[in-house]
Amino acid sequence: MGRVIVWRVTQNCNMKCRFCSYSTEVERVRGSADDTEAERLCGVFGDYKRQTGTDMLVSWIGGEPFLWKNIIPFSEMLHGYGINVSTTTNGLLLDRIELQRSVVDCFSEVVFSLDGFEDCNDIVRQQYGHFEEVSRNIRTLAKLRDECGSDMKIKVNTILMRRNIDRFEEFCSYLQWLGVDEVTFNQLGGFDRPEFFEENRLTRGQVETFAERFPKVKKLFGESGLIIHGSEKYLDRILKTSRKETNPIAECDPGAWFWFINESGFISPCSYTSYEYKLDTREIRSAEDFARAETYFRQCRAERRSKWCDDCYCTQVYDKFE
Ligand SMILES: C[S@@+](CC[C@H](N)C(=O)[O-])C[C@H]1O[C@@H](n2cnc3c(N)ncnc32)[C@H](O)[C@@H]1O
Ligand code: SF4
Ligand code: SF4
Repeated sequence: MGRVIVWRVTQNCNMKCRFCSYSTEVERVRGSADDTEAERLCGVFGDYKRQTGTDMLVSWIGGEPFLWKNIIPFSEMLHGYGINVSTTTNGLLLDRIELQRSVVDCFSEVVFSLDGFEDCNDIVRQQYGHFEEVSRNIRTLAKLRDECGSDMKIKVNTILMRRNIDRFEEFCSYLQWLGVDEVTFNQLGGFDRPEFFEENRLTRGQVETFAERFPKVKKLFGESGLIIHGSEKYLDRILKTSRKETNPIAECDPGAWFWFINESGFISPCSYTSYEYKLDTREIRSAEDFARAETYFRQCRAERRSKWCDDCYCTQVYDKFE
């Protein structure tokens, strides 16, 4: 199995989305990854790749990852080691041709966040014109990618919420027309901005209708070339949330293939346990330390289980990307 490393490199952002704790409207500490340590760790990833031949994907996340000045040099470095590079972005800074060229050169995928059409996206993201701007940037990037003969994937991640879930299929048709290759989705989560969540969370009826249609929708779009990710297990997690049921996880193979790294340099088996099961990146000095990290995370879960494991929302555990 390959390895996926989601690395939150900055908590800075340039948007004020109403559902997100990194919104510029939220007063909070905003750290970014330490340059020297991040560079050293990328080097260890390169050693691991060379020694084991494992497929690896490093995915930058934020805040807004394109506000982190190292994103291109470090992506180029990882790409040079044969590691796949991805990022999830609000897409606003991807309007410059030089940046677009660098992205096409060294990324294997770019995930744009777009939460439905203007009538939802621009309202919940509190930025009129975001939908248009991102649509334009996707089209330009897709054209450049094709001209360069690159196989970089362009994806969209969309948050399903009360005001956009009913137009999901129409939205997917639009994305396909734009040149998007793949679609992923999150249910609206509520821990960061509870006031927004209560008014906008998915209703049980909406999720039941969505889940019933989903296999057919996924199949039909798949046949026409747009991959929509999401497994039955993933839909079941969303159904459970809409019914206010919890979902305890007995075994998640912590750290076996997935790591989350935060801006303070802590590795954990998921973004929810960044501080409870933290392992300092400075502990990772050679390829052998990857197996040690897994043992450490298993021990953490066995000896001092986090409350998050009794109601786990970590999308990778539910095959969001299947
Ligand atoms: C935190 S953002 C960081 C990357 C970048 N700034 C962006 O907007 O894509 C990563 C992803 O989390 C999603 N997200 C943020 N808040 C969320 C919430 N409350 N529920 C579900 N997804 C959320 C965003 O839509 C985005 O796709
Ligand atoms: S969703 Fe992304 S763009 Fe919006 S506030 Fe959060 S981090 Fe910033
Ligand atoms: S919250 Fe979920 S993914 Fe994270 S350690 Fe617990 S069970 Fe595993």
